Amino acid sequence: MLRPAILTFAALALLQTATSAQYRKTCLVDAGENNATDDALAIISAFKDCGRGGRVVFKPTTYYVNSVMNITWLDDVKVDLYGKLLVRATSIHIVNQSTAFVLGGNKVHINGHGSGTLDGNGDYWYEWIRQQPNTSNYPGRPHAITFNGLRNSIVEGLTFLRSQMWTMSIIYSHYVELDSILVNNTGNRVSSSNTDGADTIRSSHIKFNNWTVYNGDDSLAFKANSTDISITNSRFFNGLGIALGSIGQYKDQYETVERVKVENVHFGNTLHAVSFTFLGLHAADISSSMQKPGLMTRMATRQTAVGADAADMGFTNLETADLRGAAVAISQCTRFSGAPGQGNCTSSQFQIRDITITGLKGTTKSSRVASLQCSAVAPCTNISILDAELEFSNGTVASEYLCGNVKDQKGWECTGEVCVGGSATGEC
Ligand SMILES: *[C@@H]1O[C@H](CO)[C@@H](O)[C@H](O)[C@H]1NC(C)=O
Ligand SMILES: *[C@@H]1O[C@H](CO)[C@@H](O)[C@H](O)[C@H]1NC(C)=O
Ligand SMILES: *[C@@H]1O[C@H](CO)[C@@H](O)[C@H](O)[C@H]1NC(C)=O
Ligand SMILES: *[C@@H]1O[C@H](CO)[C@@H](O)[C@H](O)[C@H]1NC(C)=O
Ligand SMILES: *[C@@H]1O[C@H](CO)[C@@H](O)[C@H](O)[C@H]1NC(C)=O
Ligand SMILES: *[C@@H]1O[C@H](CO)[C@@H](O)[C@H](O)[C@H]1NC(C)=O
Ligand SMILES: *[C@@H]1O[C@H](CO)[C@@H](O)[C@H](O)[C@H]1NC(C)=O
Ligand SMILES: *[C@@H]1O[C@H](CO)[C@@H](O)[C@H](O)[C@H]1NC(C)=O
Ligand SMILES: *[C@@H]1O[C@H](CO)[C@@H](O)[C@H](O)[C@H]1NC(C)=O
Ligand SMILES: *[C@@H]1O[C@H](CO)[C@@H](O)[C@H](O)[C@H]1NC(C)=O
Repeated sequence: MLRPAILTFAALALLQTATSAQYRKTCLVDAGENNATDDALAIISAFKDCGRGGRVVFKPTTYYVNSVMNITWLDDVKVDLYGKLLVRATSIHIVNQSTAFVLGGNKVHINGHGSGTLDGNGDYWYEWIRQQPNTSNYPGRPHAITFNGLRNSIVEGLTFLRSQMWTMSIIYSHYVELDSILVNNTGNRVSSSNTDGADTIRSSHIKFNNWTVYNGDDSLAFKANSTDISITNSRFFNGLGIALGSIGQYKDQYETVERVKVENVHFGNTLHAVSFTFLGLHAADISSSMQKPGLMTRMATRQTAVGADAADMGFTNLETADLRGAAVAISQCTRFSGAPGQGNCTSSQFQIRDITITGLKGTTKSSRVASLQCSAVAPCTNISILDAELEFSNGTVASEYLCGNVKDQKGWECTGEVCVGGSATGEC
């Protein structure tokens, strides 16, 4: 039975539809009585009825999603999510990743109106993963949502709580704006790991604006063939900062990350502001590397024969508070635990070039402004760091710029050798 409050809400939704300039068939998604009902069926059914040219409205209530949803055929749809989806589904596999919810299509506008929430019920996963011998790559640990083939679309006003693993993977997607998104993957019982805010792969023209991310891994990460990406007016806490990479996860395939613009971003207690990581892996490692583990446990570097590059990027007005490591880090030999071999850190074909960082201010706990460990085969070229003013809480200025194999830098001088084979945190 519908309660009066919900009737009022339904009436409101209908009224909105009637008064909108263009009539849209509207489907109001019914929620089951309690957590024993799987609302996934009602949700899929609403998208089937109204997902092409219509509107799908979620009431301000909790929906229990106990099975996976794979909804990739949307076309010109408006989605109003006032309530919360509590996801307890496990996962389906999609291009070597596991995910609980796949969504894709053309001209999709999802609006959470500041209250719409996707809750991954992640506390369970964070505890479970700690009990496993192989914490990094637990099979089937799902991403909260995967946008697959999403085009000309807007996603705004949503909150993501305690994602199972990565929050949002964005693949084969183009011209998507992701605005005013809050991600809070802070565990209630144990801390979370491998809970990236968002990852782009084989996607272009993706705009992140007004994001706030609390997590335990990459705040936002741009991987293989991500181009024309922007991040503006955002805040990242506790994670690793903005990650370009990891690159080099696909055997025999060239990978690029190009034309990235970042402006007005705050980094609170993150490890880095910006980092570039390269992995050259053998085929056997590929699927597990897609389930990229967190900082603690990186896998071995092995070189691929094909090239990769990260180029043409501008970072402007970055503000830090208690950064935990080098603000700008390049590492060509990121390692995951458990994998054999140490790799050769300076022989990768990964070329990083044309990067400009203008305005890097705030506090840090590391003396390193930059730690740039580049390849002897493909040196980093044209790396500018201008107007950097980082200091410890006692006012001492951070002044180290460690580097290896860097050419044509501007705005800074190398103050020492970077430690090859180590992370940029200083524990080499
Ligand atoms: C479902 O709800 C009941 C009653 O609130 C609660 O006791 C039970 O633990 C819940 N089950 C799950 C799987 O959340
Ligand atoms: C998801 O749906 C798409 C399109 O309907 C289909 O091609 C794909 O195989 C489905 N994926 C899974 C894992 O079910
Ligand atoms: C998935 O992984 C396999 C190897 O495990 C690889 O051959 C294949 O290219 C990958 N597919 C994609 C789409 O990345
Ligand atoms: C860890 O996971 C990988 C990939 O799933 C697997 O090949 C390996 O055997 C696992 N190791 C242990 C110790 O469980
Ligand atoms: C930014 O996003 C937050 C939600 O995380 C929202 O409350 C706020 O109004 C947004 N700010 C702007 C200027 O849109
Ligand atoms: C994030 O979640 C944690 C754990 O529930 C909570 O303590 C914290 O207040 C939340 N932060 C925000 C900004 O909502
Ligand atoms: C990236 O794009 C290039 C050029 O379009 C293509 O050759 C390569 O296979 C792509 N790599 C991946 C991992 O998709
Ligand atoms: C790593 O590769 C570089 C470039 O090919 C080479 O100069 C260097 O000697 C190699 N180092 C080791 C330890 O093999
Ligand atoms: C250096 O990189 C910047 C972009 O970060 C670009 O605007 C500039 O033209 C590059 N300089 C050279 C000499 O290529
Ligand atoms: C400020 O703190 C840093 C890091 O703890 C320390 O190395 C430095 O000596 C301190 N400077 C002064 C003037 O106390």
